[in-house]
Amino acid sequence: MTSFFAPRTEPATPITLATKSSWEAIRGKLAPAGRAFAEASGFAAKPGQYLALPGTDGAIAEILFGLEEADDAGRDPFRPGLLAGLLPAGSFRFANAPHDPRLATLAFALASYRFGRYRKAEPSLARLVPPDDVDTEEVTRLVEAVVLARDLINTPANDMGPAEIAEAAHQVAARFGAQFTCTVGDDLKTSNFPLIHAVGRAASRPPRLIDFSHGDPTHPKVTLVGKGVAFDSGGLDLKPSSSMLLMKKDMGGAANVLALAQLVMAARLKVRLRVLIPAVENAVSGDAFRPLDILASRKGMSVEVGNTDAEGRLILADALALACEDKPDLVIDLGTLTGAARTALGPDLPPFYTGDDALAAELSRCAEAENDPLWRLPLWPAYDKWLDSKTADLNNAPSNGFAGSITCALFLQRFVTDPKRWLHVDIYGWTPTAKPGRPEGGECQAARAIFRLLSQRYG
Ligand code: BES
Ligand code: MN
Ligand code: ZN
Repeated sequence: MTSFFAPRTEPATPITLATKSSWEAIRGKLAPAGRAFAEASGFAAKPGQYLALPGTDGAIAEILFGLEEADDAGRDPFRPGLLAGLLPAGSFRFANAPHDPRLATLAFALASYRFGRYRKAEPSLARLVPPDDVDTEEVTRLVEAVVLARDLINTPANDMGPAEIAEAAHQVAARFGAQFTCTVGDDLKTSNFPLIHAVGRAASRPPRLIDFSHGDPTHPKVTLVGKGVAFDSGGLDLKPSSSMLLMKKDMGGAANVLALAQLVMAARLKVRLRVLIPAVENAVSGDAFRPLDILASRKGMSVEVGNTDAEGRLILADALALACEDKPDLVIDLGTLTGAARTALGPDLPPFYTGDDALAAELSRCAEAENDPLWRLPLWPAYDKWLDSKTADLNNAPSNGFAGSITCALFLQRFVTDPKRWLHVDIYGWTPTAKPGRPEGGECQAARAIFRLLSQRYG
């Protein structure tokens, strides 16, 4: 796991980081041959620009790498992560400090990620000597959590059904001695999870509710809820193929909740942690739930199905109702709930919702500090009536199509006891095109930002 880091005692080739404004001074200090080589190569310290300077023996004497200015508003703290894909085999160290040494180190490790389950992946052979002031154990825990989330999301749905999601959760729980239970198939009906059962019953792989707890029961209760839709075909409101293509990632909420739970348990935060994951496949069969079916819910309200493709909010509704029954101090749910979130803010910036303004401000700061971006959207009260149904207590999919991520959050809010003790994040869970530290594919979103918030509150 730590193979992307070299021991601090190891001899390592220096990486000099330059910005447009610092480049002149750095250039002046280079040996004449190196300076001439950099000039001939057109090195100008543009962000992401890379140059290996040869020594007199022809070996690499030094790496030059361009960064944005420290005060550049659009600066990517993960930019140094690009080095993992550029450097040859060997050990390297920063000759001068990156703008954020911890995030630079993290980015280097996260950029080295490969999904190697189905074919041998070429490993990156460059290793970084971590800067002195960086806590490599903490960074390694973050990397392990991100790798867990990415691996779970990247695994295709044929090998990541509800049972495999439960097995992954069981492994995380067992590693920390958490108490684990799982309610499967028809038992969901007798245990009063009608919505989870209705959404999952069409699939040949039965639905389930995963539930594990860890930590001192007298500590503040924090409950994490993750949307675990192994594959979202849309149900009878079938998705067109272009929209269905990526739907193996529809368990991204569950994957990120497991990543976050692992971080919380490994750090021994002073919380009583509970993790709830409704794991289902939204499939089509003769037994599928239908448009305009009216379903019972755990909370008691009747729910009219406006659209079988709005399945995530249905399974989260029952899980959130359960979560609130033992009055936790904080309930956090994560899920890939709406295409509207991506339309509004794009794939890199998940919207979050809470009734607690102080929590929102704190989370925004944590998101920025971790380069795990999040953006608050409102639980806009005037839109709540769009959830009204003519025949049931509420409808799962407002027909006007406006503000889809907000109306989803408002739907979930109906199943939460106290919106001031609730945080909801509508994640995308996927990097469509590679960026520094973020290879294309499944992505860990919100877990690092929320972990920082929980560490500040309960560390
Ligand atoms: N899993 C999807 C949301 C989704 C789609 C996330 C594409 C990321 C990318 C969710 O279950 C869904 O289908 N939502 C519908 C809701 C609608 C029917 C009210 C959507 O967003 O179109
Ligand atoms: Mn759907
Ligand atoms: Zn879905």
